[in-house]
Amino acid sequence: MTSRIETKVWIVDKNVENIQSCSQVVDAAKLIRQGEVVAFPTETVYGLGANALYDDAVEKIFLAKGRPSDNPLIVHIGELEQLHAIAREVPEPAVKLIEAFWPGPLTLILPKTNRVASLVTAGLDSVGVRMPDHPLALALIREAGVPIAAPSANRSGRPSPTTADHVRADLDGRIAGILDGGGTGVGVESTVLDLTTEPPMILRPGGITLELIESVIGDVQVDPAFLVGAEETPRSPGMKYTHYAPQGEMWLVSGADHIDVQKKMRELLADAKHHGRKTGVLATEETASFWRGKAEADVVLSCGSQTNLASVAQMLYGVLRQFDDLGVQYIVAETFPREGMGMAVMNRLEKAAGGRIVRV
Ligand code: TXA
Ligand code: MG
Repeated sequence: MTSRIETKVWIVDKNVENIQSCSQVVDAAKLIRQGEVVAFPTETVYGLGANALYDDAVEKIFLAKGRPSDNPLIVHIGELEQLHAIAREVPEPAVKLIEAFWPGPLTLILPKTNRVASLVTAGLDSVGVRMPDHPLALALIREAGVPIAAPSANRSGRPSPTTADHVRADLDGRIAGILDGGGTGVGVESTVLDLTTEPPMILRPGGITLELIESVIGDVQVDPAFLVGAEETPRSPGMKYTHYAPQGEMWLVSGADHIDVQKKMRELLADAKHHGRKTGVLATEETASFWRGKAEADVVLSCGSQTNLASVAQMLYGVLRQFDDLGVQYIVAETFPREGMGMAVMNRLEKAAGGRIVRV
């Protein structure tokens, strides 16, 4: 256990002019240069940042999160020149993807240079790198003058944080500071694309969809181990851990007929209630009013509209945390189609459910 430290909170309006010179950003960047750990917003989720070129600083990230040291971190850059300090080679498909999607929620796995702190890559010869599309993240990296290694700013095993309050709930007293720039946008983490294999492989679905990537570089593979319960060991070290988990036991119910799905969900809820558990339904705008009338559902939370999976991605982690705050012990949810953002949404739901899926 690390000793408790005072966690500063700096509130910054992300739309302010000359954001890089505002005192909060200057203070936070100074702490990064001094080898401390600071949380900051990106367009996906909040990150927990440290100087990516300095092992002693990176070690503090693992300690604060309670993260296993065999799970490598993503390096965030503020300008393209920094890429060459991190990556040994930048192949042609990477160049095209960078042009199309950076700054943005796409992490590229590339061969690493020796400058990257060894703890960042967990001993691998490759490194994940991205340029985040958030004015506060970019200002912090540029002001610090070094690339910043950052995982999501949650305690290991908790849903990733999409607000500064989520970060505080998990890490207050364990990190030097939090830059509070309000809620994040995409809501789920970046897509991780491995460019050291041929064809390239998506190791984690995220903000930039499979369809978008293929529109720029043609065929890519998808790691067959995405789904919890699959036989294959995930290629991305981080994907093997139970992530994104609410404290309650979560079940997904999937099926072609929504009447059958709702019937099954009601059965599961009734059974859980019978065993004295506080129950919850992860609903959508379309289904929430149906569930609100039902005695077997103690808590009904909507995570957006079925017709807008980007909104579902944006709200998902916050809603999972709300179930915890309300002490819900048993949660059921419907599934979503896997196209577009649906692939990332379903991947996170499956992880949150720890592979507990009923098919009707
Ligand atoms: O949106 C995001 O990507 C957020 C924000 C803060 O940028 N970051 C994030 O980091 O989600 P983290 O550490 O929670 O997830 C990084 C993922 C893990 O699954 C890790 O195993 C994988 O990327 N990864 C990192 N470097 C890798 C490498 N060299 N080879 C394979 N997978 C790698
Ligand atoms: Mg994470």
